[in-house]
Amino acid sequence: MRKLVMSLCVATGALVSGCDTTARSADATEAPSVIGAAAVNTERLLNADSEPGSWLSAARTYDEQRFSPLDQINDTNVKALGLSWYADIDTERGQESTPIIVDGVMYLTTAWSMVKAYDIYTRAKLWEYDPDVTKNKAADACCDVVNRGVAAWNGKIYLGTLDGRLVALDGKTGKVIWDKQTTDINLPYTITGVPRIVKGKVIIGNGGAEYRVRGYVTAYDSETGEQLWRWYTVPGDPSKPYEQPELAEAAKTWKGDFYWQIGGGGTVWDGMAYDADLDTIYVGTGNGNPWNQAIRSPGGGDNLYLSSIVALDPNTGKYKWHYQTTPGETWDYTATQPIMLADLNYPEGKRRVVMQAPKNGFFYVLDAKDGKLLSAEKFAPLTWASHVDMATGRPVEYPEARYEITGKPVIIKPGALGMHNWHPMAFSQDTGLVYIPVQIAAASYAGPKEFKLNLQGTNTGTDFSGGAALCAAPGAQCGNLETYILAWDPVKAKEVWRIKNDIYGSTGILATSGNLIFSGNHKGEFNAYNATTGEKLWTAPTQARVVAAPSTYMVDGRQEVAILVGARGLPEGQIRTNAYSANNSRLLVFRAGGAAALPTAMPAVDPARLGVTIDPPLLTASNETVFAGEQAYAANCALCHGPNAVPGAGSIAPDLRYSGLLPIRNGWNPTVRDGDRAQRGMPAFGATLPVETTDAILAYVIKRANDEKAEQEAAVKKAAN
Ligand code: HEC
Repeated sequence: MRKLVMSLCVATGALVSGCDTTARSADATEAPSVIGAAAVNTERLLNADSEPGSWLSAARTYDEQRFSPLDQINDTNVKALGLSWYADIDTERGQESTPIIVDGVMYLTTAWSMVKAYDIYTRAKLWEYDPDVTKNKAADACCDVVNRGVAAWNGKIYLGTLDGRLVALDGKTGKVIWDKQTTDINLPYTITGVPRIVKGKVIIGNGGAEYRVRGYVTAYDSETGEQLWRWYTVPGDPSKPYEQPELAEAAKTWKGDFYWQIGGGGTVWDGMAYDADLDTIYVGTGNGNPWNQAIRSPGGGDNLYLSSIVALDPNTGKYKWHYQTTPGETWDYTATQPIMLADLNYPEGKRRVVMQAPKNGFFYVLDAKDGKLLSAEKFAPLTWASHVDMATGRPVEYPEARYEITGKPVIIKPGALGMHNWHPMAFSQDTGLVYIPVQIAAASYAGPKEFKLNLQGTNTGTDFSGGAALCAAPGAQCGNLETYILAWDPVKAKEVWRIKNDIYGSTGILATSGNLIFSGNHKGEFNAYNATTGEKLWTAPTQARVVAAPSTYMVDGRQEVAILVGARGLPEGQIRTNAYSANNSRLLVFRAGGAAALPTAMPAVDPARLGVTIDPPLLTASNETVFAGEQAYAANCALCHGPNAVPGAGSIAPDLRYSGLLPIRNGWNPTVRDGDRAQRGMPAFGATLPVETTDAILAYVIKRANDEKAEQEAAVKKAAN
């Protein structure tokens, strides 16, 4: 019964057990006049510091520092922070978005590009939106079906969808205002990044570099969805006129004829920032396609504008300058990582800079005006280059790192996931430090014996097993090694301290004027640390791995911190407590004195909630068949779907009792036997199990679903009495 009470609490904010009962004070001075107005404009974004109680864009301001001037929660009182309320999320996989808080409403995205809007006063879910992305689109997403959030502008909420659409929704109702395809639907493009909005232009990129696409960033009219400009990151077919004059120059840095036929890569899938004084938007570009440069551009070349920070005019999309972090990249070293702007205090005076900690392990500080390189120091123990030559701005590579030239496999740091990935870093204007979620991994790179274009999946042009012998050698270090939060002084270009994670995994960061940084981890915690010293000051359980970054805002004069939790797999020893998500995906909201608690067991399911009902067909199979199915289930399915057909600790796959496939044997077989969802982690059993066995498993799951339904009906009856 606990669950029903909890969901009431979540749905209505009613003052019931399990809820923080200090919900609303009389003082509502900050209350917006129109809930859900989403009335964001240039002036409001530029003056974000004058309304610190809001969080107007994913990284809070155009500078994208993820720094809040709020200090009501601070290093002296953070211990009093408690869970105020939570909302179960009805998708699993990675939850990567940072909630934005505008005019009394919190907007966030979940896996599968879905949007949810909550009233921050009543905690009621106001609306939700599902773009109905075709689920086989997951095959085109390298790194899960994630989405990193929405943008608000002039009454509307904008998001990019995994299948490449840009969608404008009404901020009050979630109704679709326009929906625009931004990519060729026949190519493996995806969108996981946040749209940025500059003077009424919605700017969006996409992902898919190693799948055979050509990168670009596009601006659309926020009111109509009309395309205004597009900037390609790499040159296209040389027999056609170049779309932009600088692409003719860029083409001279490419060799051969293959790159433009498979797109070349360079996708703009995450980092961007805008400077209003310089009227410039900075975008980060991705890796080459394929990674292996000898295949992509035989004979070398810088391959502009891969792995670069590019400055563009947001009005026209005209190129201003670029800085390439990894010329001729061959290791999947993208420069799409978060980009932030700041005024740094150098001994010789203030300087407006662009900062990035891309995959390749160097921390770059550039002059925001002209892209002049100010510093490029290792923020992690990379082994592909010794340093960056400040005269040329180029990395000085170790020759053996170029496996595609030496023909020899090599182990280097970092591997393809980088020393820092999309996980948001933060900059504190008080401490002057940048807080970077660093991940140290080493990987072997080797050229393939033979390269064949793969139209279905990725085209890295490398052989992942080619370096296996190297990694197996005694003393060799390969794979995931450690992760930590690094406090980095961007002026001195050096480490100040680090906070090590017990369990490998990166998580986004928030810095506040309360001398705090907030970050989750993969052990199932949400933590606050002293921003000056790194001392851990507070912790709360999340029951889920955390990858997203939090945001903070004010409700009725009280500061709250919100974080979306959930990533693939559960923390060790954690059981499922969210019936709708195999990884306990949730929105968690904290405030001083918050006294809510997460459920400690998998709750009984409220059939009315979220439209998820248990509706199994009648069991018609014999006892013998069900018994055979039980044995086969335990041997083949329990590992991922949970023992006894109930997902438990460590279960990564959905609750089959709730599967809509149970009544449709014709639907069950393609998934279970033919590998229709193999790309999403559901193996094909057609070759290993006879059809009688998978039929028997189906009968057993139908039996278990009927058991569950009977239990729920009994619980509902009992509650009614
Ligand atoms: C290695 C892990 C793994 C194993 C073993 C496994 N599954 Fe799955 N299964 C998954 C994942 C992951 C999904 C979710 C795929 C997706 O996102 O669509 C899934 C999805 C399914 C679905 C679709 C559910 C729905 O309604 O969307 C069915 C049916 C299914 N599995 C049946 C089985 C059966 C039967 C077995 C044993 C014969 C089995 N699975 C073994 C990982 C696994």
